[in-house]
Amino acid sequence: MIIVSEKNIFSLTNKYYSYVFRVGDGGILEHIYYGSSLINPNNSVSHHYQTHRDGVLHFQGKKNYNLSELPQEYPTFGSTDFRFPAFHCKNSDGNTATVLKYKNHRIIKGKNYLSALPSARGGECSTLIVCLEDNLHKIEVDLAYTIYDNYGVLVRSANIKNNGNNKLELNNIYSSSIDLPASEYEILHLHGSWSRELSEESMIVPSGRFVIESNRGSSSAAHFPFIAVCEEQCNEIHGNIYSSSLIYSGNHSISVEKGEFNDVRLLTGINSFNFNWSLNPGDNFQTPEAVHVYSKNGLRGMSNIWHSFIRDKITPKNFNIKPRPTYLNTWESSYFDIDHQKVLKLADKALSIGLEMIVLDDGWFDRRIDDSSSLGDWYADTKRFPDGIQDLAIQIKRKGLKFGIWIEPEMISTKSELFKKHPDWVLKAPGRIPSLGRNQLVLDYCNADVVNYIFDKLDKLLSGGNIDYIKWDMNRNMSEVGSPVVSAKQQLEVPHRYILGLYSLLNRLTKKYPNVLFENCASGGNRLDLGMLRYMSQSWPSDMSDPIGRLNIINGCSYLFPLDVLSAYIGPSPNHQNGRISSINSRFNAGAFCAAKGISLSDSDIDNNANELAKLINFAKEHATDMIGGSFYRLKKSANVFCWQYITKDKKKCFLLYFHILSGPNEPFQHIKLVELEKNSKYKQTSNGKLYSGNLLMENGFTLPYVSMTNDNKSISYMPKGDFSSKLFVFKKV
Ligand code: GLA
Repeated sequence: MIIVSEKNIFSLTNKYYSYVFRVGDGGILEHIYYGSSLINPNNSVSHHYQTHRDGVLHFQGKKNYNLSELPQEYPTFGSTDFRFPAFHCKNSDGNTATVLKYKNHRIIKGKNYLSALPSARGGECSTLIVCLEDNLHKIEVDLAYTIYDNYGVLVRSANIKNNGNNKLELNNIYSSSIDLPASEYEILHLHGSWSRELSEESMIVPSGRFVIESNRGSSSAAHFPFIAVCEEQCNEIHGNIYSSSLIYSGNHSISVEKGEFNDVRLLTGINSFNFNWSLNPGDNFQTPEAVHVYSKNGLRGMSNIWHSFIRDKITPKNFNIKPRPTYLNTWESSYFDIDHQKVLKLADKALSIGLEMIVLDDGWFDRRIDDSSSLGDWYADTKRFPDGIQDLAIQIKRKGLKFGIWIEPEMISTKSELFKKHPDWVLKAPGRIPSLGRNQLVLDYCNADVVNYIFDKLDKLLSGGNIDYIKWDMNRNMSEVGSPVVSAKQQLEVPHRYILGLYSLLNRLTKKYPNVLFENCASGGNRLDLGMLRYMSQSWPSDMSDPIGRLNIINGCSYLFPLDVLSAYIGPSPNHQNGRISSINSRFNAGAFCAAKGISLSDSDIDNNANELAKLINFAKEHATDMIGGSFYRLKKSANVFCWQYITKDKKKCFLLYFHILSGPNEPFQHIKLVELEKNSKYKQTSNGKLYSGNLLMENGFTLPYVSMTNDNKSISYMPKGDFSSKLFVFKKV
C-alpha cells in the first residue's frame, strides 16, 4: 500500500515492512524510516535533528543547514552533502553541482517493465513515481518505488531525463540510495573466484566506504551483486537486515558508507568507475532495478523472502514450477573428445541408469577439438558430427531422451571463419593488442549487426525444434573494452551498451523459444545474477564439482538464490578441480537440493557404479517435483559440518542433509533442531519407519549420526567411515 499525506509524507507499507520519506525543507527528499511494518507509518518521525554544529558544517547562513547529516532518498553532489552520491553528473557549465528537488509524484497500480533492461514482474503491487528536478540545468529524475502486497521486497530504479538544451555527462547514476540511521551494523557479502564462487564474508561496517563492484564486464564471481547490512547481533533467526541486489549482469557497484555521524548509506547500481554516459537534450537514461529485501527475522527470514521473490517474479514463468530433467553432461565425461557415435553411446548409458536428457557440452562445432579455436562458427563439425546436430538430436529423442547443447554466443576465437570475415566484430581498443582470455575475444554486442548475426545462428539451431535445453556459457572477463561502432567520446558507455545488446538478444530468443530450458553459465558462476535469471531458469553456479568444494558455494548461493535455480552433477573422482576422492553418494548429496541434477561421468565410471547411480537418479526423479518451490534452511555451518534442511511447499516432505567433512576420533554427539514443520503432524523417517511429531523434531531435535570408527557403515546411526561423509534423511508426513 502507498499512502501520501497532505504534508507530502510518502509511506510504502505492507505486512513485512514500512518505508517512509517526505518532501523536506527546500524540496529535498528526506528519508524517514525503513524497517518492520508500522501501524501508522505516516506518523513516524525522522531521528535527524536539525541542530547547530557550527564550523565547516554550517551553510547558507542557517546554523542548522547541512545536507551531510540529512538522510536522503537520492543524494546528489556539489552542495553540502559530502558523502558518495547516488547522482553525479557534469553539466554544460563543466561543474557537477546538482540540486534535485521534488516536482510531482504519481502512483500506478502494478509496475512498469523497463524497455531495454530486465525487470521484476508486477502483479499485486503498486508503484510510486516521484519526479525530482534540477531547475537550473533542467534535469529530471523519476524515482520509481514498487511495493508488493505479499513480499518483503522494495524495487527501486531511477530514470534521468535531460530537458535542457545542452548535453549532460552522467557519472554516477545509482538505482537506489538508502540512508540508514546510526547504529552498529555488519555487512555480509559474497565473493570468490573461479571454482570457489560465493564465499561468505562478514565484517563490522567500518567508517569510510566499503564497496563491492565489478569492472570485468560481467557481474563476476569476484563480488556478487549482493550485500546484506545486518543490525547488531543479527544471526540466522534474529535481527534486522537490509539487503540489496541488482537486476543487472554487467559492471555493478554496491557500497556501504559509514558517515561522520555513524549514519550508513547503501548505494546499489551500475559501477560508476570507468563509466560515463552522454545524455543528449531530450534523451533519458534508465537505471537497472535495485531489489531490496528487509527482514526482521535474521538471515533465514531474509533468504526466504529472496527465494520466493526470485522464483515468483524473476525467473521465467514457463519453468519456475516445472521439475527439471535429470541429465548426463558430456563435459567432465569426455571434454573435447566427443563425436556422434560417442554421444549415442553415452545416451544409451544415460538411459540404462534412468537419466532423462543428454547435454552435448563444448566441442561439437566446426574444428573445435580444444579451446584454441572455432567460437563463432556455430555449425557442427563435419568430421565428428557428419549428420549434423539436428539429426543427432532426432536420434537421441527417438531413444526417449531430451537433448541439450552448449553454446558460448558472446565469444569469438581468432582461429575461426567468423573472425576471418569480421575482424572488427570484437571489443578492442585502437592500437592495443587485445588480451586473449582462454584463447578467445569478446564479440562486440554494441554492434547490432553482431547481435543479429548471432540471433540468426541460434535461431537456426533452435528452429529445428529438437533442442530442449541450452547451456549458455561466457568464459572470460572483458579487457581493452572498446567498440569500433561507438564514437571515441562515448567509449565509456561500451560496457553498458554491451549488456543492452546481450539483453536484446536474450529477450528475442527466449520470447521465440519459451519452451527451451536455458541454463546460465560463465565459467561456472562468473555471471550469476538476477539479470541473467530473468531470462534463464537455472544456473551452473561453479565448475567446482567436488562435493566438499561445492558445499560452501551452495551455502553462499542460498543467502540470495532459491536452489530451484541451481544445477548440480555427480562429477568424476578424483575430482578434476581439486583432486579430492569422494564417494558417489557424497557427490550426489552436495547437490541434492538443487532443482537440476545429473552426472558428468565417463562410460567406464557409469559402468562401474551403475547400480548406485541408478538408485540415486531414481531418488532424484522421485523428488524432482519436491525440489521446486520448497524452502531451504541453513541449520548448521562450521569448518567441519554443514547441515541443511529442505521442506516442500505443502510441508509433506522434509529432507535433512548432514555433511561431516573430516572424520575425527571420539567426536561429541550432536543433534539438530528442524524448522517449519507442522508441529501437530507426525513425520516418518523413511529409512527406518520411525515416527516423530513435528513438535519434537523442532524442539527436542533429531540425533545426528555418529562418525563411525568401526566398520558399521550401514547402520543409520553412524556416518560412513572416513572423511567427506554425508547422510540424507527423508521425513514424510503421515
Ligand atoms: C566452462 C563451463 C564448463 C564447460 C566448459 C566448456 O568452463 O563452466 O561447465 O561447459 O566451459 O568449455
